[in-house]
Amino acid sequence: MTAVGVVGLGTMGAGIVEVFARAGVPVVASEIDGTALERGRAHLVGSTDRAVSRGRLSPEDRDALIGRVRFVVGLSDLADVDLVVEAVPERLDLKRLVFGELSKICKPSAVLASNTSSLSVTEIAVTTDRPDRVIGLHFFNPAPVMKLVEIVRTVVTAPSVVADAQALCARLNKVGVTIGDRAGFVANALLFGYLNQAVTMLESGFVTRDDLDAAMKLGAGLPMGPLTLLDLIGLDVGLEVLDTMYDRGGRNQRHAAAPLIRQMVTAGLLGRKTGRGFYTYG
Ligand code: CAA
Repeated sequence: MTAVGVVGLGTMGAGIVEVFARAGVPVVASEIDGTALERGRAHLVGSTDRAVSRGRLSPEDRDALIGRVRFVVGLSDLADVDLVVEAVPERLDLKRLVFGELSKICKPSAVLASNTSSLSVTEIAVTTDRPDRVIGLHFFNPAPVMKLVEIVRTVVTAPSVVADAQALCARLNKVGVTIGDRAGFVANALLFGYLNQAVTMLESGFVTRDDLDAAMKLGAGLPMGPLTLLDLIGLDVGLEVLDTMYDRGGRNQRHAAAPLIRQMVTAGLLGRKTGRGFYTYG
């Protein structure tokens, strides 16, 4: 593989850029305008600087890693890449628009991948001229740390594209698991019912925030409690996943978002990225 494109440089997109650049793959990193592009660049610089300060990366390797990334506005610079990973906000209309454009711009052999966490990869694929070369590559937050990638194949994805995705995950030092196209795939389908239930418990006054998180962290051996995890994921992202799961998954009450999540999103309490969610940061 000579180069990949990453479209959308929010928390996930910027993390995915870092994953590829760390593995020695040149990346064309695309955003919609200069402001968003600078935010994505700052995310990459901040993350790699932290790795240097922790002694996990030498300053020379950090510079080489960043040097592998070409930051661009718009999609026209993606004409020559072999793979595009799309990580724009989790809205089907937006993703379909981006894939329609990529289909016109990218060379016919290029694979088009979505990092969607709960939308239908099939509905995205059919907006392109190559549904057999469209796949889901679902990374987890924080992308440079989490080992899993869900490889989502649709009923029309070519087996060779799935095999290449598995080989790619190994090259990125990730574990790829292959899954069909259903709401929330595996990890989110199981995780988000639990996260939603945790917020419902908090809302009912059944337990305090800190005790709830401590119970799951210390009692179930998880790296963080559910409210801390929702703050990491972003409550806006969490709400989008829940709403999609509810609609696509047969309106299961498990995924009917707790009112408190919706209220916090409306109030801008999105978690770590806005400095306040269930906890306060910075
Ligand atoms: N970017 C890059 N590296 C990061 C990072 C980030 N945002 N956050 C932490 N790290 C690195 C640290 O630098 C550190 O590396 P070293 O040990 O080599 O120095 C390592 O990760 C551990 O970090 P910390 O010591 O600061 O903290 P920790 O031990 O508590 O680990 C954590 C942090 C990795 C986030 C851990 O708490 C964890 O695994 N939490 C659960 C995360 C999770 O479940 N993610 C999935 C969310 S669901 C999702 O993403 C799907 C979706 O579609 C919404």
